[in-house]
Amino acid sequence: MKRNIIVLGCQWGDEGKGKVVDLLAKEADVIIRFQGGANAGHTIETGGKKFILHLIPSGIIHPGKICYIGNGVVLDAFGLMEELDMLHTEGIDTDGRLFISSLTHLVMPFHKMIDEYEEKKRGGCVLGTTLRGIGPAYRDKVARCGFRLCDLFSPERLKEKLADYRETKAEYFIDSSDERGDIGKVYNDLMNIAPKLKEYMINVPIALMKHHNDGKSILFEGAQGALLDVDHGTYPYATSSNTTIGGALTGSGMSPKFFEDIVGVVKAYTTRVGEGPFPTELKNETGAKLRDIGSEYGASTGRPRRTGWLDLVILRHACRINGVEKIAVTKLDVLDSFEKINGCIGYELNGRELSEIPLDPAELGNVKPLYKEFDGWQSETTGIKNFARLPVNAKKYLKFISDDLGVEILLVSTGAGRTATIMV
Ligand code: GDP
Ligand code: IMO
Ligand code: MG
Repeated sequence: MKRNIIVLGCQWGDEGKGKVVDLLAKEADVIIRFQGGANAGHTIETGGKKFILHLIPSGIIHPGKICYIGNGVVLDAFGLMEELDMLHTEGIDTDGRLFISSLTHLVMPFHKMIDEYEEKKRGGCVLGTTLRGIGPAYRDKVARCGFRLCDLFSPERLKEKLADYRETKAEYFIDSSDERGDIGKVYNDLMNIAPKLKEYMINVPIALMKHHNDGKSILFEGAQGALLDVDHGTYPYATSSNTTIGGALTGSGMSPKFFEDIVGVVKAYTTRVGEGPFPTELKNETGAKLRDIGSEYGASTGRPRRTGWLDLVILRHACRINGVEKIAVTKLDVLDSFEKINGCIGYELNGRELSEIPLDPAELGNVKPLYKEFDGWQSETTGIKNFARLPVNAKKYLKFISDDLGVEILLVSTGAGRTATIMV
């Protein structure tokens, strides 16, 4: 029986999950997204082309692989159509290769309107969301007034639900010039794409079990990262889904007994987009240099990412929650020119030293990072494919990470392209 692997981000997202999933997808048969929505931006660079995927699993770039969107995802159906168009323009055939859970909740145009409205209302306490309607869609799901993919196929009931929603949430629908709040238009637009969406609709747990029983291997593609998890992250500066291991189970409908590997994706330094605590943030020239060399600008929103040194404390937290035993270390090449490199091994909080995340992760806003300093390697690692060829100091840095976390390094990424990878 082949293995089922879960790939999860271990920081605040944008660790390079798209690249890692694309690499592992070569050996897998099936790839599934199980949480998040179009807030995700997963980049794959291969053959001189760059693909940014928001909803469709990164495995789609490999011809013949079967891709699923699980019930845990919040689906922007119009965004999905655009993403499919983009893939077709790039010559990627998706016919018979993409399936979506009928239970997937929809991100409606008005969810984005509400996301925007609420961010404005928060004033000085903005979260810095992606404005993709993620929070409002998940909130409606939990409040049991959400809209699911299967609802599109009971049009009369959908019409009534939309009207009820509009009425009970009237305070959000005050700008009559915003057509995202025009329920009649939303309904008509959805009806236009419903026949297309019907082709993708499937019972995902049944399909996954069949693949598993047929000896196929399934790759689970996480979105965001552990510190954005609504329970285990830096709440309220988090996303609205479980980005950690539990999300893979509930968001796909596959039992934990079938998972054999959990791969954590770890960027060789840390980045964060949006607001919220970030202990190792460098608001100085070094931070700007990391942003510049690492091209740290959001794949979904284009926003500059905040940058800082690697933080082992948050990684310990991420690895523990997820049961990570193997990590993929990405963007090692970005550190090539740094004379000194720091790794945060603990915090100081109110005169006390901490080696683990505080009881309330929001306290991360008040900690002082304690660093271990490394000599940089100051030579080029870009494109290196062989571990033995890495500079001694780069190997030392990697060993420090794997020893501290008690995990094995599965791969090291030395560039954005598919081939710039060391399989350890
Ligand atoms: P994801 O959301 O976790 O999939 O990550 P993103 O795609 O949002 O951001 C990662 C960015 O880093 C993308 O632009 C990738 O092409 C790029 N990238 C991934 N791995 C490497 C690497 O090893 N080196 C460099 N220089 N860039 C990388
Ligand atoms: P990938 O999958 C980085 C951040 C937003 C914001 C917070 C809440 O590409 O790693 P939301 O729109 O989800 O309500 O925003 O979460 N965020 C991400 N940051 N990578 C992502 O996805 C993110 N998805 C959401 O910037 O701070
Ligand atoms: Mg991203």
